[in-house]
Amino acid sequence: MEKTFKFDDELTVNRLGYGTMQLTGDGVWGPVADPDNAVKVIETAIDHGVNFIDTADAYGPFYANLYLRQALQNRPDSHVMVATKVGQTRQGPNLWTPTGVPAYLRQQVELNLFTLGLDHLDLLQLHRIDPNVPLADQIGELKALQDEGKIKHIGLSQVSVDQLKAAEKIAPIASVQNMYNLSNRQDEDVLNYADAHHIAFIPWFPLATGQLIDNPTLTTIAQTYDASPAQIALAWLLKRSDVILPIPGTKSSEHELQNIHGQDIDLSQADFDALKALAD
Ligand SMILES: NC(=O)c1ccc[n+]([C@@H]2O[C@H](COP(=O)([O-])OP(=O)(O)OC[C@H]3O[C@@H](n4cnc5c(N)ncnc54)[C@H](OP(=O)(O)O)[C@@H]3O)[C@@H](O)[C@H]2O)c1
Repeated sequence: MEKTFKFDDELTVNRLGYGTMQLTGDGVWGPVADPDNAVKVIETAIDHGVNFIDTADAYGPFYANLYLRQALQNRPDSHVMVATKVGQTRQGPNLWTPTGVPAYLRQQVELNLFTLGLDHLDLLQLHRIDPNVPLADQIGELKALQDEGKIKHIGLSQVSVDQLKAAEKIAPIASVQNMYNLSNRQDEDVLNYADAHHIAFIPWFPLATGQLIDNPTLTTIAQTYDASPAQIALAWLLKRSDVILPIPGTKSSEHELQNIHGQDIDLSQADFDALKALAD
């Protein structure tokens, strides 16, 4: 099993990453009560080797980026690859709307650069394809931003294999971020395509937002490794394919440390298969 994933000759990351969404929370709006804790969780991740961090303009909105910016400024030598997203407006805590108008995508790239305090974005993911805007216009605008040096790699989120192939005709696609975890493996075909083409597959909700933690099979297997269910769920994803880059989210430094140690667990094939059967 590979511990790292190579995006290009300059960018190789540890596969176990971190996602910022839970810092502010899904269905939550505005800043968190304890911003110092949010920054500390990210610093804990960086201090223990996490160098792939997923975020989005819509988380907070913007507050997750601001906490990440602070942590990156506090760790100037950390060489973290930031993966952010554009392409969804958010009109309130639970109202997300795909918006792929090229001028909007461009504005959001600029706002990501500003809120993250970066001069370019290593990985810019189209959060959702907007069905009301031609794909060529959406990916075409990201390609233009890439040609201008503002984006290094382009990624997609929540797409089918056909959509991925269609986008690849317009620009090289370095990653795809779809929902995938032990209890939801609907996008095996997308993962298999990514695996065959060395495209990073970034599973969102890798812990099923924490709901996996109480699964009896997972708990029983975890006990045999003296590990937590979350650690085993992450170890399973890491074993499933070398292109998988899990980005578990947490607002707890203790959980973050636990998740990082999950990458050291070497699951037996029998336990891998038993866990796979949970959603077969
Ligand atoms: N592309 C997309 O459309 C999309 C959609 C959703 C999410 N995402 C990305 O995916 C990332 C991951 O998703 P997520 O954070 O929502 O869900 P997740 O990683 O599946 O689960 C996070 C939940 O699990 C809990 N948790 C984390 N580590 C734990 C541990 N060791 N023990 C017990 N509980 C633990 C957290 O609670 P505590 O805070 O209490 O630890 C949190 O409630 C997000 O941060 C975001 O970057 C992308």
